[in-house]
Amino acid sequence: MRNVFREPGRLPLVAPSILSADFARMGEACARVLEGGADLLHLDVMDGHFVPNLTMGPDMCRGLRRALPEVFLDVHLMVTDPGAYIEAFARAGANHVTFHVEVCPGEVGTELAGRAHGLGMSAGLAINPGTSAEALPDGLDVFDLVLVMSVQPGFSGQAFKDEVLATTREARARLGPNKRVEMDGGIDAETARRAIKAGCDVLVSATAIFGRPPEEWVDVIRALRGG
Ligand code: DX5
Ligand code: ZN
Repeated sequence: MRNVFREPGRLPLVAPSILSADFARMGEACARVLEGGADLLHLDVMDGHFVPNLTMGPDMCRGLRRALPEVFLDVHLMVTDPGAYIEAFARAGANHVTFHVEVCPGEVGTELAGRAHGLGMSAGLAINPGTSAEALPDGLDVFDLVLVMSVQPGFSGQAFKDEVLATTREARARLGPNKRVEMDGGIDAETARRAIKAGCDVLVSATAIFGRPPEEWVDVIRALRGG
């Protein structure tokens, strides 16, 4: 399967976070948002320990892979021990895993990226608003992507934090042009402009998309892209 992070078509990519989708009708909502122009699906996995919320696991990934065989599944591990879960997500059909520098500093992260690649997935490193860009390790280019959190992780529907734009510019400057900078949290048409200007080329959005009626998703996705 094509890796949309390594072989992007048009940029920016729009990545709906299923965190705000209707969990009672997840397959239907995901199929519809992809028909509406989304490029991939973003799965916000939380363990109730790294962040004060518990959301979904490998079985959600497996269900989406079964329902949507061609979809690119971008798994964001907001968990204290991501190394314990990457095999399970690979087996469940994930295409990509992102884990946090706060729990995978330095070589711990670059080695875990190597393990993810060995499992056939691309790998991303996420950084929270309160973490200095200096925490991004040497050898950052082993990652396919840096995910800049524009809210404190744990819940959708929070306000965008402008202070993360400096980290975005730093990540963009340190990554090669064929690497992605993803942003997650409080992304709507207006904040997407600021994120793109700072060098972001993958936009994660939950509330701005799934907080609207399905018939509006095409227009919301177009507006996020800047259309
Ligand atoms: C961490 C989650 C949220 C979510 C985005 O809390 O990762 O950032 O994806 O939610 P919205 O787009 O509603 O801010
Ligand atoms: Zn996320």
